[in-house]
Amino acid sequence: MSGLFLTLEGVDGAGKSSHLDWLAGWFRERGRVVHQTREPGGTPVGESLRGIVLHQAMAAETEALVMFAARCEHLDRVIRPALAAGEVVISDRFTDASFAYQCGGRGLPEARLEVLENWVQGDLQPDLTLLFDVPTEIAAARLANARELDRFEREQSEFHARVRAAYLRRAGMHPRRIRVIDGSRSIAAVRVQLAGILEKLA
Ligand code: TYD
Repeated sequence: MSGLFLTLEGVDGAGKSSHLDWLAGWFRERGRVVHQTREPGGTPVGESLRGIVLHQAMAAETEALVMFAARCEHLDRVIRPALAAGEVVISDRFTDASFAYQCGGRGLPEARLEVLENWVQGDLQPDLTLLFDVPTEIAAARLANARELDRFEREQSEFHARVRAAYLRRAGMHPRRIRVIDGSRSIAAVRVQLAGILEKLA
């Protein structure tokens, strides 16, 4: 069985985390070995870098480089080996998040990130990306109930609006890979759509 690389994306508060375990369960019920992971993170070095980048102020360039350093380690130690072993890898965020947050949100030129993307990924891309999309007011209301917020979650609403717009622009550029999910609906309604997408994939 060949490996399958699935990534989940969306602004903070879009609801992707509510569906992670369910997605993994969907594949496990069909006999697949699933590796659930996240970015930044997914390895000991990556999780250390996550602690730094989510909580310490730094230049936008540094932020992008740290995200890709964590990603390089993640690809090398976890993602590529799991895919080579025929597993399903489900990552809570991947490179689309860098384009959305560091380019859309922080204003870095996309050409800079494309160099890093090429360097660490070569031609590896997710097989499928689920982009959970919600209006920024809904996302903000959901975050208002959340536990302590990190550096990205504490950004102004204009930042989140730019991140959302950048995600949607990317979905327009990669319509076959990136599927937009309306995350403002009920969890049950979202799952019906997710099941439909997965069934076509399997
Ligand atoms: P998130 O995935 O939302 O985790 P949690 O649900 O535990 O808060 O947090 C990761 C944050 O990192 C999120 O705000 C987006 C940001 N991020 C980037 O800015 N660039 C990236 O390349 C990645 C992977 C994440």
